[in-house]
Amino acid sequence: MSPTTIFILVLVVAAVIAVIGIVMVARGRTDADGTTDAVQLDRAAKKADKSRRKSRAASAVAVSANATTDQDPSSSVAVVAPPAEYSQDKPKIEVTADEYGVTRRRFFGRALGAVFGLFMLQFALAGLAFFWPKLRGGFGTPIKAGTVKELKAEVLQAGVVIPKAIPAAQAWVIPFQMELLDDSQFAEVPFVVAGGEDDGVGLMALWHRCVHLGCRVPECIPSQGFECPCHGSKYNAHGEYAQGPAPRNLDRFAVSVNGSGELVIETGTVVQTARAKQFTIPYPQGPFCVG
Ligand code: FES
Repeated sequence: MSPTTIFILVLVVAAVIAVIGIVMVARGRTDADGTTDAVQLDRAAKKADKSRRKSRAASAVAVSANATTDQDPSSSVAVVAPPAEYSQDKPKIEVTADEYGVTRRRFFGRALGAVFGLFMLQFALAGLAFFWPKLRGGFGTPIKAGTVKELKAEVLQAGVVIPKAIPAAQAWVIPFQMELLDDSQFAEVPFVVAGGEDDGVGLMALWHRCVHLGCRVPECIPSQGFECPCHGSKYNAHGEYAQGPAPRNLDRFAVSVNGSGELVIETGTVVQTARAKQFTIPYPQGPFCVG
C-alpha cells in the first residue's frame, strides 16, 4: 500500500470520526431505550404537569364544598385552604442529572467534543486539498509526454534543438546525446535521461520555471538555449547555467519510458544540479533573444 493511499485512508477515518463526533454532540446522549435527554425531560415535564392539574382539581372541589357549607352568611369572603402541592410538608423531589438538563461538566464535555470534531474535519479537508492535484493526476504526478519516437523527431531537426513544451508537466523536452552522460554532472542522476538505449539520443525534461525567481523561461532557437525575460538568466540547450543571477542549472524531472513507448515525466521528482563547470553543449550558437 503506497504512502498516498495510507494517508488518504487516514483522512477518511479522520473525517468519519469528526462527523460522528459532531453528530453525537448535536444529538446529546441517547439511552438504551432510544430516548434522548430532550425526550426524557419532555416526559418528566408532562408527568409533573398532569399531577399538578389533578391536585388543583381536587383542591377546587374541596374549596367548593367548603364554600357551600362553612361560609359565613354575613361574609362574602370564603376561606380557601392552599392546595396540597404548596404544602410545606410536601416531600422534595429528587432530580436526576438527565432531568436537570445540561450540567456544566456536560457542557464542557460537549464543547470539547465539538472542537475536536471540527479540528479533525479541518485536518481532513486540508489534507484533501493538499493531495487533490495528485488525485486528479495533474502536476506533481507522472505525466505522459507522447511517444519517444515522435518526440525525438520533433525536438531534434537537422542538428537543431527545438524544445517541445509539455504544458501539463510545465516542462521542456529536449534531446540529450547519451555519450555525454558519463562525463557530465548528470551521471549521478541518470534517471533524468530516458529513451536513448537504441539510437544514443535520449530525452530530458527541463522544468520551465527559472531557478532565480520562478519566471517561465522560454526557449531561444537562434542562440540554442533558454533565456529568462525577467532578469536575463541564460541557460544552454541542456538547461545548464550560462549567465545571469540564476544560482544553478534549470531543474529537471525524472523521466522513464513506459510499456507503450511513451515518455513519462515524473513531475513529483525534481532534480536540482549546480551550475555546470563544463557545458555538455556549446552556447550560444547564435544571437540572444533577451538582451
Ligand atoms: S526569474 Fe529568471 S532571471 Fe530572475
